[in-house]
Amino acid sequence: MTILTEDIDLGVEALRQGRLVAFPTETVYGLGADAANPQAVTSIFTAKGRPSGHPLIAHLASVDQIDQWARLDGETATMVKALADAFWPGPLTLVVPRTSRVADETVGGRATIGLRVPDHPVALQLLAGFGSAVAAPSANRFGRVSPTTAAHVVEDLDGLVDVVIDGGSTAVGIESTIVELVGPNPTLLRPGAVSSAEVAEAIGRDVADGATGESRAPGMLQSHYAPKATIELVEAATLADRLASSPQPDTVVGVIAPLRVDQQPAWHLPADAAGYAARLYESLREADRMGVGHLLVVPPSEGAMVAAVLDRLTKAAAPRS
Ligand code: TXA
Ligand code: MG
Repeated sequence: MTILTEDIDLGVEALRQGRLVAFPTETVYGLGADAANPQAVTSIFTAKGRPSGHPLIAHLASVDQIDQWARLDGETATMVKALADAFWPGPLTLVVPRTSRVADETVGGRATIGLRVPDHPVALQLLAGFGSAVAAPSANRFGRVSPTTAAHVVEDLDGLVDVVIDGGSTAVGIESTIVELVGPNPTLLRPGAVSSAEVAEAIGRDVADGATGESRAPGMLQSHYAPKATIELVEAATLADRLASSPQPDTVVGVIAPLRVDQQPAWHLPADAAGYAARLYESLREADRMGVGHLLVVPPSEGAMVAAVLDRLTKAAAPRS
């Protein structure tokens, strides 16, 4: 049975018992378990229906705990310190060489680990109370849109997660930026609220783009973050024409756009990409609940998060297997 609560101590207790606890972060809700407990981590994959080779992000209460989980040599240690100073707590995950403390299941058998200190009071209290790393992917069924409210988590995982801690809507709305600090060049594996340019500035080095093409992070499939509705990306200038030439008569067509349109249902999101990101996933989930079959989506045009939002929209629009 799933318990929905605001009581963080219930979450700490459940983590200690090797159970699953969904909790809010500033990006999206995570589905957490003790990162050092193989059985607990295995139950994350079962609940999500996620293939077991995909590595999970380990969440820490503070950068002070990092040496228990990461093996940092001179140059990597310097970059991690600069990035932690600049962005932690915050929506940035660092992939670094790991110690043996974490369960193999958490990292999909890899020699590296993704670490992040989330910027949310509930997450930080939960992590501090537990006192150790919490492995947590987004708290959705595999391949579906990440949850930005506790209700979204229950929608996907009722009966599969032991405790859901309700901390309201998440502020950022899309998953963290992932930067890999392994090998010769720092590499962006997933764009997010912290831009590649900001990372480069903090470490005084170029950041390679690994978010597109072959070197994508394991588990970052071409099609991802998808609602049930099919998605078509459209430019603002052609939206009206596209609506006029509406496709199949039996399909409910919806619009998500940073402009007002004469169409129902429609979600009018902010033109600024940060504001757009904050409401994108809830809009996709609402469209599914309303039985929308096809969504015409106009991307945001302004702000530092345009690349991150476009990444998610492109994956949502990709052909599905
Ligand atoms: O904002 C977020 O990052 C949220 C919240 C809950 O923290 N978490 C999240 O987790 O989005 P998930 O599992 O849905 O996405 C994590 C991504 C996966 O694509 C995985 O491949 C990558 O991070 N990743 C994790 N550990 C890695 C590693 N050691 N090497 C390469 N990629 C890694
Ligand atoms: Mg996910």
